[in-house]
This record gives sequence, structure tokens and C-alpha cells, in this order.
Amino acid sequence: MTIDVAAAIAALRTGDLIHLPTETVYGLAARADDPAAVIKVFEAKGRPRFNPLIVHIGDIALAEAIGVLDDRARALAKAFWPGPLTLVVPVRDTGMACDLARAGLDSVALRMPKHDMALQVLRGAGIGVVAPSANRSGRPSPTTHADAVEETGTAVAVALDGGACPVGVESTVVSLLDEARYLRAGAITREEIAAIIGPLAADVAEGHRSPGRLSLHYAPAAPVRIDVTAPEAGAYLAFGPTGYTGPVFQLSEGRDLREAAANLFRMLREADRLKPVVISVAPIPAEGIGEAINDRLKRAAGFVG
Ligand code: TXA
Ligand code: MG
Repeated sequence: MTIDVAAAIAALRTGDLIHLPTETVYGLAARADDPAAVIKVFEAKGRPRFNPLIVHIGDIALAEAIGVLDDRARALAKAFWPGPLTLVVPVRDTGMACDLARAGLDSVALRMPKHDMALQVLRGAGIGVVAPSANRSGRPSPTTHADAVEETGTAVAVALDGGACPVGVESTVVSLLDEARYLRAGAITREEIAAIIGPLAADVAEGHRSPGRLSLHYAPAAPVRIDVTAPEAGAYLAFGPTGYTGPVFQLSEGRDLREAAANLFRMLREADRLKPVVISVAPIPAEGIGEAINDRLKRAAGFVG
């Protein structure tokens, strides 16, 4: 175990915040069983208290202790954990995931990240750890150590550097409270979920899904326009070759959706630093992780009500 990881575990135990790198985005983490620690997360992010947090765990036994995992949950955990999938299940132990962490709900969101440093921290700590994305509320999620420090560096006792996040968009969220529902798109697609547990229930109206899905979310300071093939001004996030002569950020020259997801938030931030009149983004196919990319872009553009 490195000195950094040991320091992070000690900080969590004390009730301090840390930056937790994961395969999706950097998290702002605190122990989930201590309301005095969890409240620091809401304060540092400026996050509304009605928006519940994901409890991260390093092993399945802890997941079973905190939540009630049925056959579907176990099958999905077996298929995708560690990995970018969050499962919403009934809460079993309201002390291990405190009321504030769950925003008072009788359910809990659980996830085991696929990231060596994160797993070392979680397994070393041996408790559930809340970790929303380490951005201030409403801003793009950080996918590098430097971006996490820029967002919430002053709030943490230890800022772990686990390198650039390979996935780049937040985990898929699936609710198993009654019928299985796809609450938030991520790297694990609807088809991959359905292949394990059968058909998903139809999507319900935004706002009745995940409580925290605010419309203007993931937004840089500059206005964002999506589905733009020929930008006329400002910065451009391209997907494949472009003839635009202004500042171009190439999400993926070879039109690879996974590469585009990994680059998305970092390039939104880099484009925003130029203080452009507008950030235009190329059309992104909605298949696979493209659904998650389009979901985040629509929110950045303020299109989801
Ligand atoms: O990839 C990720 O999931 C990252 C990394 C750091 O692990 N974390 C993350 O956390 O994205 P956050 O807090 O930004 O997103 C949590 C999402 C929100 O949409 C929230 O509403 C939903 O999970 N959620 C949490 N608990 C829930 C519950 N009991 N019922 C329904 N949705 C829930
Ligand atoms: Mg977030």
C-alpha cells in the first residue's frame, strides 16, 4: 500500500474528505456512516440535500450488509462489479449508509469501482464511502487529478492521483426497487443489463427517475450547442475529421465512442478555458456509450427539463 493510499484511508476514518479516482470520474469521498462527514460533501459541492449519494464498496459482503440484494442485483454485480454500474436497492442498514447519504430514502445506491487505487482505499477502509463526482454542483465532472483539484481541492485532506479516468462519464444507474429501470446512462448499456436480467421497464418522466438529475448540469461557463456539423464561431468539439479553422478539440479522430467519452469532460473544460462565445459539439451517434455522451451533452446545453 502506498503512503498516499494509507493517508487517504486514515483521512476517511477521521471523517475528512478525499479525492477518490475511479474508472468513471474523480469522486469527492467521505465515510457513509457519519453524517458529520457526509455533510461536508454536500457543502463542498454546493449540492442540494435532496440528491442522494452513491455508496462505494470494495467487496460484495459489504454491499450485502448495507443493502438488500435480490437475485437480479447479485447477477448484475457478478457480471459488472467491479465496474461502472450503480445499483439502487432497498437499504438494509441505515447506520452504514446514513440518512443524509440517502437523502432520507429507504433505498441505497451501491457501486464497486473498477480502479486499483479506489479498491485499495475501499478495501483498506472496510466501510461504505459516499463519492459524488468531485465537481462543484452543476459543473462538468473532473476526469483528471488536476481538474478535481481545481474543482474541490480546498475541501479535501488527501487528493489522490490515480491518473486520467479511462471511462470518462459517470456510472450507469439501474434501480431494482420494483421493475428494473435504467435511471442514468453510462458505459454499461441497456442491452448489457437486459442480457443479464431480462427486459427493463419503460423510462419514466425525468424528475421521477434519479432524484438528482438536474437539468442544467455538467455545464461549462460558455453556452453549449449540440449536433453542430459546421460551427461558425467559438470552440468546436469534433467527432472525426473537420474543416473548422477555429479552436478544435478532437473527441475522437477515428469516431470511437469510448475514446470520445473518455475525452468529453476534459475537453469541455479545455474549451471553456478559452472563454469562447460558444462551445459547439459535433453530432454523436446514440448507440452504446453514445447514449451517455448525448445525455451529458443535452444537460450541458440545458435541453433536459
Ligand atoms: O461514476 C459515478 O457514479 C461517480 C463516481 C465518483 O463513482 N459518482 C457519481 O455520483 O456520479 P453522483 O452523486 O454525481 O451521482 C449519483 C446519482 C445521482 O443521479 C443520484 O440521484 C442517484 O445516483 N442516486 C443515488 N441514490 C439514489 C437512490 N436511492 N435512488 C435513486 N437514485 C439515486
Ligand atoms: Mg455528479
